[in-house]
Amino acid sequence: MKLRLLAMFFTCTFIVACTKDKIYLDTPLDQLLTSSLVRASKTNNLDHFILPDADDFAAIPQDPRNPLNQEKVELGKMLFFETGIALSPTKEAGKKTYSCASCHVPSAGFRPGSPQGIADGGIGFGYNGENRTKLAAYRDFEMDVQGVRPLSVLNVAFVENTTWNGRFGSTGVNVGTEDRWELDPELHINEAGFAALESQNIEGLDVHRMEITEEVLDDYGYRAHFDAAFGSEEENERYSKKNAAFAISAYLRTLLSNQAPFQEYLKGNKDAMTTQEKKGALVFFSDAKCYHCHKEKNLGANEFYALGVDDLYKTGVAFNTSAEDIRNLGRGEYTGDPLDNHKFKIPQLYNLADAPFYFHGSSKYTLKEVVNYFNDGVPENETVPTEQIARQFKPLDLTPQQVEDLTVFLETGLRDPNLNRYVPEAVLSGNCFPNNDLFSKIELGCGE
Ligand code: HEC
Ligand code: HEC
Repeated sequence: MKLRLLAMFFTCTFIVACTKDKIYLDTPLDQLLTSSLVRASKTNNLDHFILPDADDFAAIPQDPRNPLNQEKVELGKMLFFETGIALSPTKEAGKKTYSCASCHVPSAGFRPGSPQGIADGGIGFGYNGENRTKLAAYRDFEMDVQGVRPLSVLNVAFVENTTWNGRFGSTGVNVGTEDRWELDPELHINEAGFAALESQNIEGLDVHRMEITEEVLDDYGYRAHFDAAFGSEEENERYSKKNAAFAISAYLRTLLSNQAPFQEYLKGNKDAMTTQEKKGALVFFSDAKCYHCHKEKNLGANEFYALGVDDLYKTGVAFNTSAEDIRNLGRGEYTGDPLDNHKFKIPQLYNLADAPFYFHGSSKYTLKEVVNYFNDGVPENETVPTEQIARQFKPLDLTPQQVEDLTVFLETGLRDPNLNRYVPEAVLSGNCFPNNDLFSKIELGCGE
């Protein structure tokens, strides 16, 4: 009797995975992968890696001062793409031509389609953002560009401190760094105690030269949407930039790559990944030890390491950055502690195949190159002192087949094929988006 019970336990745990609709027979590869995943998870449970559904608000991390609701998400979904709020450009030529999505292009995995994001001062789009370049009327320092490649906003609900150096937010790794907030006007917002995402987006609307005006509220018609999302607030506070940022934050928290094959696999569909993707996942969660760092639900983490990759100026195509740019110091720029120099946040890993620019300085153009970089374990950036380099960054001795499999897991196993569900049909101004300049309009096939 005891033996039979034991046999049943093993059958249910290791051989058969049961979902609502179907019973899958686990192959030995599935069993190996499942046990590696369980071991790699903080909670000893596959669930650790499962992303919530976008409408399961209770399961999505959020700022208690900005609780999620559908109306905020709908408003944020338009404002994120709204070129009509691009109302404070450096030059008249930039007016109403750019949006948040100029640098966080959905079809590029919510990253830019080029090595550096360009909003105000840029022109052109191409198919995927790859044609965007400088508008002739602008000088480099007048453009809205940064010294690091834009991070994806996919799965950002699981990022505790935002940006590559984690400077936003008063919790997490920023506890104990309060004195730094005084130094940079942009960081005074951390004193308000909002979550990092809300804080960054309040600043972001200013940094990216956007405004909520009477025109936006009444001519385009956003007022009713603010009423629906923030109706419990006094009218004199309801239509604020802060609330625009809150709505955008709510929308961003729902950007979850939960239809990626790896996600479907975790939820029980053992056919969702190919054999090669499963082998690649096994490399990721065992031999290559990628999961030591890429360990949270978004396969990123709120920790900072130096991998010795090249900085953005090295691409030779980036504007307004250089070898002397203090942003090359990563976490060290923020904390002022030399021990943090050249360390960058561990980014999420979904939909990276959608745009071929990797690492904070866009120094790699294929995921195969990225995997080879980790496998070789040789830093490429001579300005990063050896003692700063993560001790885990060393030769991995993966076989060529393991490199191949791991690459395929990153390329397709972690790619949600349907991110278009997060793009609005239209924005209320009726403008083109994500860009609305002359070239972009032609390339996007919209407007005049
Ligand atoms: C000009 C390009 C550009 C535009 C426009 C832009 N961003 Fe970004 N975004 C970036 C860059 C670059 C980073 C990384 C910044 C850093 O590390 O310092 C980033 C990072 C972020 C992050 C942090 C992600 C993380 O994991 O830490 C969020 C959130 C974000 N942007 C939201 C927005 C919103 C909302 C808007 C519109 C208000 C916007 N961005 C407009 C370039 C841009
Ligand atoms: C020591 C911690 C650590 C380990 C181990 C690690 N990573 Fe990373 N990973 C990082 C950090 C930090 C970055 C960002 C570095 C930068 O851009 O300066 C990164 C960046 C990446 C990127 C680029 C993402 C982007 O948005 O550009 C990919 C892809 C990646 N890692 C995959 C892997 C794989 C595959 C492995 C296992 C072979 C691995 N990582 C192991 C810390 C780690």
